[in-house]
Amino acid sequence: MSRFGNVAVLAACSLLLAAPARSADAPPAPAPVPDYHPSFGDLMTMAVQPRHIKVGIAGKARNWAYLTYESSELRNAFGRIARTIPAYRGNKLADLFTAGVTPQLDELDAAIKAKDGKAFDAAYGNLTQACNTCHTALEHAFVVIQAPQTSPYSDQDMKAR
Ligand code: HEC
Repeated sequence: MSRFGNVAVLAACSLLLAAPARSADAPPAPAPVPDYHPSFGDLMTMAVQPRHIKVGIAGKARNWAYLTYESSELRNAFGRIARTIPAYRGNKLADLFTAGVTPQLDELDAAIKAKDGKAFDAAYGNLTQACNTCHTALEHAFVVIQAPQTSPYSDQDMKAR
């Protein structure tokens, strides 16, 4: 671009920059920011899956203090999902969670409270099974959940202390 061209571009830019100041008494309406509406699949991936993984990893480490916290996070995540998406394909999510995952979460919490490793392993297996039972019931049998094999959270120390 020529030197003259650069000057022209600079002049145009300063005009653009000056423009809002000149129309300060009549500011243009701000463009509406579209809301983000996460889908059920988004919420499963964002709020449920990571916590299921973390509970599994901390469970192997018998990190009871952290498990007390994270198991409650997982339970509350289901509650928030049911409030955000009350119905999924005509099914009331709150009812599905109450029937399909609350008993398993209760069993998990009892094991954590008792600091009972064997009971925890059994409860975690039952919880994971409950994830898959619901996936099958709601025509997503191909979403298969298992206990985590390794931790994707290398920045978080899950050891009991
Ligand atoms: C009330 C039934 C129900 C329960 C309980 C449930 N899920 Fe889901 N989950 C679904 C449905 C339905 C989908 C598919 C959502 C969609 O995309 O429309 C899904 C999708 C997912 C996905 C997204 C898969 C992908 O690859 O994008 C993950 C991950 C997931 N679930 C994990 C879990 C885990 C972990 C648990 C148990 C701790 C669990 N779910 C419990 C119904 C359930």
